[in-house]
Amino acid sequence: MRPVPRRWGFQEFKDGRERMKPIEVGLLGIGTVGGGVWTVLARNAGEIARRAGREIRIAAVADKDLDKARAIAGGSARVTGDAYDVVRDPGIDIVVELIGGTTVAKDLMLAAIAQGKHVVSANKALLATHGNEIFAAAQEKGVMVAFEAAVAGGIPIIKALREGLTANRIEWIAGIINGTSNFILSEMRDKGLAFETVLAEAQRLGYAEADPGFDIEGIDAAHKLTIMSAIAFGVPMQFEKAYTEGISRLAQLDIRYAEQLGYRIKLLGITRRTPEGIELRVHPTLIPARRLIANVEGVMNAVLVKGDAVGATLYYGAGAGAEPTASAVVADLVDVTRLHTADPEHRVPHLAFQPERLADTRILPMEEVVTAYYLRMRVLDRPGVLADITRVLADRSISIEAMLQKEPGEGEDQVDLIMLTHQAREKQVDGAIARIESLPVVKGRVTRIRLEPLG
Ligand code: NDP
Ligand code: HSE
Repeated sequence: MRPVPRRWGFQEFKDGRERMKPIEVGLLGIGTVGGGVWTVLARNAGEIARRAGREIRIAAVADKDLDKARAIAGGSARVTGDAYDVVRDPGIDIVVELIGGTTVAKDLMLAAIAQGKHVVSANKALLATHGNEIFAAAQEKGVMVAFEAAVAGGIPIIKALREGLTANRIEWIAGIINGTSNFILSEMRDKGLAFETVLAEAQRLGYAEADPGFDIEGIDAAHKLTIMSAIAFGVPMQFEKAYTEGISRLAQLDIRYAEQLGYRIKLLGITRRTPEGIELRVHPTLIPARRLIANVEGVMNAVLVKGDAVGATLYYGAGAGAEPTASAVVADLVDVTRLHTADPEHRVPHLAFQPERLADTRILPMEEVVTAYYLRMRVLDRPGVLADITRVLADRSISIEAMLQKEPGEGEDQVDLIMLTHQAREKQVDGAIARIESLPVVKGRVTRIRLEPLG
C-alpha cells in the first residue's frame, strides 16, 4: 500500500516516499538585492536545502520591470507586475520584500502578514520607522519578520546581537554601517577623487539607496543604528529621536588635519547606555588611526559591540552590494524555513526581548551627550589669540588634549588652528563655539567634528 502523507508540510513524491515539500518563496523586487538572492539561491541550492532540511524555491517574482524580471526568473518562477498577486497567492509561504521605501513596501508587508505569511526584508528604512507596528502585527498573526540584511549588509550582526550575545548587558555599539559613505571617504582620502565622482561610482555599483541623500546625510546609518539599538537595549524603534549628521559637508582639509593628528574620520553610528538614557547618534567621527575599525575601507562595514561579559567584539564584512546582502536574506530564509513549524512562543523575539518586556528608557537629546571634539577655526596670526580661545573653553570646563597650528601662507595674516578636547557635554561645546565665533580675532565659522577614542 502506498504511504499517505500524514504530516503538515510533507509531500508524497513519485517514488512513493514522503518528503518535506519545498518552501515556496514569493520575491517582491528583483533589482540589485533581489537579483543577488535569485543568483545565490540558484547557485547554492543543494547546500542550502541540506541546511534548511528542505528545498527553498522562489515560486513567484513581482517587479515593476516585467522584462527584467522575465529575463532573470522567467521559465523557473511565475512572473508578475502586481506584487499583491504574490502576497495573496495561497501557495506562497514566505514573502521576501526587496522593493524598498516606506509606502508600497509597508502596505505589502502588512498584507503578507495579514495573509499569515512570514516576511523577510532588507528594508531598514521601513523597519526603523514602522517596525513597532509591523512587529505587533506579526506577533498577532504568529508569523516571523526577519531582517538580517537590513543592517550592515552581509555581516550577521542581527544574529550576533539577538542570539550570540544574549547573555550580556550590552553597553555600547559603534559601527561603520553605511557602505556608500565609507566608500566615498576612502576613495576621497586614498585617490583624492571628488565627492560627486565617488558617489556616482557607488550608485553604479548598486551600493547607494534609491535616494542617495539617505546615504550621505547619515539617514540610512541612523535607520540601521535604530534597529541595533532596539535589539541591544530592549527598547522600541525610535528613529525620530536619532541625531543624524552625514558626510556631505565634510571638507578634505579636515580629513588631512585629522590624519596629521593620528586620526581617521569615519561616519559612525553610536548607541550607548548611560545613567541618563540611551545615546543614539550618527555623525562623522575622528577615531584613532591605530584602531582596527579606523582601517575599514571602501564598501566594507564594521560593528564594535561592547558587552559586560564578553568585552569588546568586532564584526566585519561587506556592507552593501548584491551578493553580500543576498547572503543575509538567504540566511533569513533558512532560519524561517527551520522555524516555520515551531510554536511562535518558542521563536526568538523580533527585538530579542519579549515584546511585553520592552523598556521605555529615554533617548538622550544630542545636547546632553558627552564626547570629545575636534575644533577647527581660522584665526588672526597674532599674540594673545590662543589665550582668548582657551579662556572661552576653560570657562566652560572644556580641557584641551592636543593642538595644531598651521603656518600662515605667503602674505597671509590668518592661520588654521585645530584643537582636540577631552570629553565635554555637547551643550557646553555649543556655547563655547558660539562665543569663539563672536571673537573679533576668529574669522568665519568653527568646524566641529566629534571624536571617539573607542578604547
Ligand atoms: P533596487 O532599486 O535595485 O530594486 C528594487 C526593485 O523593486 C526594482 O527592480 C524595482 O523596479 C522594483 N519595484 C519598485 N516598486 C515596485 C512595486 N511596486 N512592485 C514590484 N516591484 C517594484 O533596490 P535594491 O535592491 O538596492 O534595494 C532593495 C532593498 O534592499 C531596499 O530596501 C534597500 O534599502 C535594501 N538594501 C539594499 C542594499 C544594497 O546594497 N543595494 C543592501 C542592504 C539593503 P524599478 O527599478 O523598475 O523601479
Ligand atoms: N545604501 C546602503 C549602504 C546599502 O551604502 O550601506 C546597504 O544597506
